[in-house]
Amino acid sequence: MSKTPKPPFSVTTPIYYVNDVPHIGHAYTTIIADALARFNRLQGKDVFFLTGTDEHGQKIEKAASEKGLQPRELADQVVGRIKDLWRELNISHDFFIRTTESFHERGVQKIFLKLKEKGDIYKGAYQGWYCVSDENFLAEEVPLEPEGDKICPDCGKRAILVSEECYFFRMSRYQKPLLDFYAQNPDFVRPASRMNEVVSFVRQGLKDLSITRTTVKWGIAVPDDPKHTIYVWFDALHNYLTGAGYDWDLATFEKFWPATVHLIGKDILRFHAIFWPAFLMAAGFPLPRTVFGHGWWLRDEAKMSKSRGNVLDPHIILKTFGPDPLRYFLLREIPVGLDGNFSHEGFLHRVNSDLANDLGNLVHRTLTMIQGYLGGLIEEGGAEQENDRKIREEFEELKKKVAEHFENYAVSRALEEIWVYINAANKYLAENEPWKIAQDISQRKRLSRILYQTAAAIRGVGYLLSPVMPGSSLKIWQSLGEKEPPEKMPYAEFEFEGLKAGSKIQRAKPLFPRVLLEDFLKEEERPALEKKETKMEVISFDEFKRMDLRVGEILKAEKVPGTDKLLKIEVDVGTEKRTMVAGVADTYSPEELIGKKLVVIVNLKPAVIRGIESQAMLLAAEIDGKAIIPFFDRDVPAGAKVK
Ligand code: MSP
Repeated sequence: MSKTPKPPFSVTTPIYYVNDVPHIGHAYTTIIADALARFNRLQGKDVFFLTGTDEHGQKIEKAASEKGLQPRELADQVVGRIKDLWRELNISHDFFIRTTESFHERGVQKIFLKLKEKGDIYKGAYQGWYCVSDENFLAEEVPLEPEGDKICPDCGKRAILVSEECYFFRMSRYQKPLLDFYAQNPDFVRPASRMNEVVSFVRQGLKDLSITRTTVKWGIAVPDDPKHTIYVWFDALHNYLTGAGYDWDLATFEKFWPATVHLIGKDILRFHAIFWPAFLMAAGFPLPRTVFGHGWWLRDEAKMSKSRGNVLDPHIILKTFGPDPLRYFLLREIPVGLDGNFSHEGFLHRVNSDLANDLGNLVHRTLTMIQGYLGGLIEEGGAEQENDRKIREEFEELKKKVAEHFENYAVSRALEEIWVYINAANKYLAENEPWKIAQDISQRKRLSRILYQTAAAIRGVGYLLSPVMPGSSLKIWQSLGEKEPPEKMPYAEFEFEGLKAGSKIQRAKPLFPRVLLEDFLKEEERPALEKKETKMEVISFDEFKRMDLRVGEILKAEKVPGTDKLLKIEVDVGTEKRTMVAGVADTYSPEELIGKKLVVIVNLKPAVIRGIESQAMLLAAEIDGKAIIPFFDRDVPAGAKVK
C-alpha cells in the first residue's frame, strides 16, 4: 500500500518595507520562518517559503525623495541589502517577491476588478486622519489634540487630514462571516490570546475600508481609473497569492495555496487576521490555516527605533559569530509569541554558556577522545549497559518531543529539550569516565561503547539542530565523517544507531569559540558599555589632585566641518588660550557658548580629533546622548583653580 503523501507546508514572512535597511527585528521573523521551513523539509513535506519586499506607497515615496532618489532606485538598493542579509543568515526561502514586479501588479489589479464587479468594491469619498509613517488611517476614536490635529497612537507621529474620492472595500459585509470563521477555526490566529483580541475588535463592528488613494503616485494604478492608486496594504497583502504563483504559475499556486502559516509581528495582526481573510473571502480564495503573531524584540528594554538610535544592526554580530549563534539566540531566548529583550550581555551569555560550554565542549571532548584513544575511528563497542541504553532511548524521546514542539511553533521549547539532552550527554561522559577506562587495555570494548554512544548522541543533536543552526549542524556531521548533509536525511528515518562503525572522524576547529564582550563590541559601542559600569574604582585624594581643573572662559566656538556633533572651542584658561574639540553641538550653538565660563581639565594629554589638536577638555553630563555643560552661576575669573 502506498503511503498518503504529506500535505505541503507553505510559510510566509511579512514583506519588508524598503524605506530602510532591515534590523534584528526584521531578521527575527525571517529566521523563525526559515527554521520552520527547514524542519518541514526534514519531515519530507513539499515546502514553499515566501518572503519579499513591500515597495509601494507614501512611506517609500517620502524616504526616496528625502534621499534624492526615485522610489524604484531606493527599492533596488534596499532589496540588494535585504537579499545580502538573508544570504548571510543562511535563509532558505524558495521565492522572493517584490511588489513592483509586473506579475504582482497585474494580479492585484485583476482581483481589484473582480471585487468591483462583484460589488465588494465601490466608489465613494473619504475624510480621515492618515498616518503617513504607518500607511494607515487612524481609528475615529483617536481624540483631537489641542492643536486640532491627531497623533498616531501606534507610532506617536502627527497624522494628516485627508479628504479624497476613493474606492471602498465593503468590509461591513464581512463581520459575520469573519466571526463565524474564527469560531470554526480557533487556530486561525495564534497564540490564542491574540485571537481574543481579534474577535473582540470585529465584534465591535467593521466599517468599509478605503483602499485607494489619489494623493499617492507610487502605487499600483486602479484599473480603468488611473488617477487612483491602490492602498499599499491592499496591494501588499496580495503578495501572498501572487508570490505563490496566482495568475502566473498555476501549478505552484494550486499546490501551495492556502498558506499553512503567515508569520507576522503582533503590530500587523489586524491587517492579517481581519482585512486579509475578508479580502480572500470576497474574492473566493481559500483562507490560510494560521496567522501567527510573534512578539517584539526590545533593545535593552526599549523599543528599537531609528529616532532613538538604538536599532540593532545584525551585521555587527554576524561579523564576529556568523549566523548560527544569532539564529539560536533569537529562537531560544523567548517563545515565539512573547516579547524579548536583546542585550549584548544576554546574547554573549547564552552563546558562551549554551553553545561554547555545553554543546561545543561536548563535541570537542568526544572528538578528541575518539582521536586519542581510538585512532579517530568510530567503533561499535561492547554490549549496551543500562546507562548506554538510557542515553539512546532518551534520544528517541527527544526526537518525538522536538517534532511536537516544532509542529506547535514552540521552537524555544524544542531547543530547551535539546539542551536537557546535551547536558544528559555531558553527564553520561562524566559518570562513565572514559579517560580512566582508556588506561586499562582490557576495557577497550567498554571504552568504544561509551564513545560510540556519545558520538551518536552528538550526531542526533546535530541533526535536530539543523533547522535552527544549519551551518553548525553540518560541521558536526562532517566531523563525524558523515558524507551527506543532515538535510538529506528524512526525519522519520533518522536513527541513533545510524552512526556507522568505521567512520573516520575529522577533528575541526572549535565550533563556537568563546568571545569576550569587550572584544565583540565595536569601537563606537564601547562608550555605551562603559556608561553602564556604575561601579567605579575608589581613588585617593592625591590621585584626584593630579587633575588640574580650571575655570575656562569660552572666547570662540565654531563647528568642526564635516561633523554634526563637534565644536572647535577656544578657551581662556587664565595663563593662556587653549583650543579644544568637544562633542556638544547637539546641545549648544556656537554663538550661545561665547563668554560662558565652565570647568576644563588643562593637564590632560592632548589628543588630535578631526585633525585638530585638542589641548583641554570640558566637563559635561551626558543625558540621552546629549552633553549638558555645568556653567558657573556667579562671576569667576578665568584660570581660577577648581577642586
Ligand atoms: N510592509 C509591512 C508588512 C506587509 S505584509 C503584507 C511591514 N513591514 S515592516 O518592514 O515594517 O515590518 C516587517 C516585520 O518586521 C513585521 O512583522 C514587524 O512586526 C517586524 N518587526 C519590526 N521590528 C521588530 C522588532 N523590533 N521585533 C520583532 N519584530 C519586529 O510591516
